[in-house]
Amino acid sequence: MVEIDLNRVDEIIEGYRGERGALIQLLLDIQSEFNWIPKEAIVRISEQLRIPKSQIYRIATFYKAMSLNPLGRHLIQVCLGTACQVRGGPKIMDRIMESLGIKEGETTSDMRFTLRRVNCLGCCAMGPVVVIDGDYHGKVTPSAVKSMLECYK
Ligand code: FES
Repeated sequence: MVEIDLNRVDEIIEGYRGERGALIQLLLDIQSEFNWIPKEAIVRISEQLRIPKSQIYRIATFYKAMSLNPLGRHLIQVCLGTACQVRGGPKIMDRIMESLGIKEGETTSDMRFTLRRVNCLGCCAMGPVVVIDGDYHGKVTPSAVKSMLECYK
């Protein structure tokens, strides 16, 4: 069970009081503060700003930058767009899942990594491509996966 600092949630909400249409930015601030959007924060936003919870969930599930589950310290995105698939992306994904003991969409139990698949990052010539915390790794080979992951503690 992850402990949530509700005072910090309240401070963030307070910064947006009276600002109409700022819900997306408010949720992005919550995401960046906690690295996810806890249910408790959604309840708090709903109560304090009188916004239906369903509306908040709709936004939080629509935007890829937001997560309703705790994320690891490092976000791994494996490209499985067509070009990266052809260049061996699925093997890279398999090797990463095997190394970390998780499946796509999951987070390691030590909260070190979250693994996601993406479709085309716009740099197909570098395929297969893996992005970790915004660092692009191109032409990744299965044998390079272990050392690539070791750079992220
Ligand atoms: S398909 Fe992977 S970058 Fe385009």
